[in-house]
Amino acid sequence: MWAAQHSLKANASPASVWALWADPDRWGDWNRDIASAEIDGPFAVGSTARIRFRRGPRLTFAITALEHERRFTDETALPGARMAHEHRVEPDGDGVRISNRISIDGPAAPFYGLLMGRRIRASLPDFVESERRLAEGQPALRPVGPELWVAETPLRVLGVEAGRRMAVVRLSGGGLFVHSPAELDERLRAELDALGDVRFVLPASAIHGHLFMEQYRAAYPDAELLAAPFLAGRRPDLAFDGLLGGTPDPRWADDIDQAPFLGNRFVEEIVFFHRPSRSLLLGDLCWDVGDAAPLPTRLWARGPRMRRALGPTPAFRLSTRNKRAARRSIDRILEWDFDRIVTGHGEIVETGGRAALREAFAWLPAGTGPD
Ligand SMILES: [Fe+2]
Repeated sequence: MWAAQHSLKANASPASVWALWADPDRWGDWNRDIASAEIDGPFAVGSTARIRFRRGPRLTFAITALEHERRFTDETALPGARMAHEHRVEPDGDGVRISNRISIDGPAAPFYGLLMGRRIRASLPDFVESERRLAEGQPALRPVGPELWVAETPLRVLGVEAGRRMAVVRLSGGGLFVHSPAELDERLRAELDALGDVRFVLPASAIHGHLFMEQYRAAYPDAELLAAPFLAGRRPDLAFDGLLGGTPDPRWADDIDQAPFLGNRFVEEIVFFHRPSRSLLLGDLCWDVGDAAPLPTRLWARGPRMRRALGPTPAFRLSTRNKRAARRSIDRILEWDFDRIVTGHGEIVETGGRAALREAFAWLPAGTGPD
């Protein structure tokens, strides 16, 4: 027999942990290797689930033991062995203890231990930590700098896991400037309301950040919705209060500067600079995709040069036809004294942002002569 296990204490209820387990649609939330899962019946002993992983083979397992809000075990048949994954939640003080145990039984167990043991041992703590975080209900908004918060949500774009980030600035006057808003659920709304009054809601461009704006219109009738260039035609359902351009609105100009990125034939993104946190706020202009991201994501974001770096996607770079206009835009952005880059997808560049951006657009011609 081969076995590994991990457990953690969580400030959560058994029911909130159970909710993560009883719904196959949520299995990918705590096991990031799972792309999708389907179950052929109720979440009960005897049902069979089919799992598709981001990498590696598909897998079918059967639920062989289950005690509501306490434990369940799934088992997979392997040639010459059987693998069991036991999930357990037990009251512990004022919270619970979450445990995951994976064991392999049968004549071929030592072989599978050698083959997969290391990976299983490495991933178990991640499962349990994710389960703890999800069951405890982490806040929707996370502070990243002075008067600057982000909300991060999963998002798949063209089949790659991109993630998506909303940024919220509290202006010196107290109102909130909401950039590329996320879906407005109850938790996010309560946290926004605790920070201040939502005053401005805006996307980065006509293709990034406008999806949920109508929810903010409904929830905050006094807030102003601003359009990025060419967005008004795409969203006739939204009555915009203004159009974003190259000059900051006087009502946020003390805290935030802005400039368009010109030269791309499909999209004109407005780039923002938040002075108090020395942060650049981006939509799609640059991605920073970590080495932990799945291969298709890294390929999409970095192209054939797989070196980890901040940069525009290959598609964006290719469609930036007017390179002189793009160069002028980047040079204007580089005049700002920013250090952090809050990207719309991928990871945040916490420091060294100016050098990273300069490097990311080094392929543009130098100089700002006539077109
Ligand atoms: Fe985007």
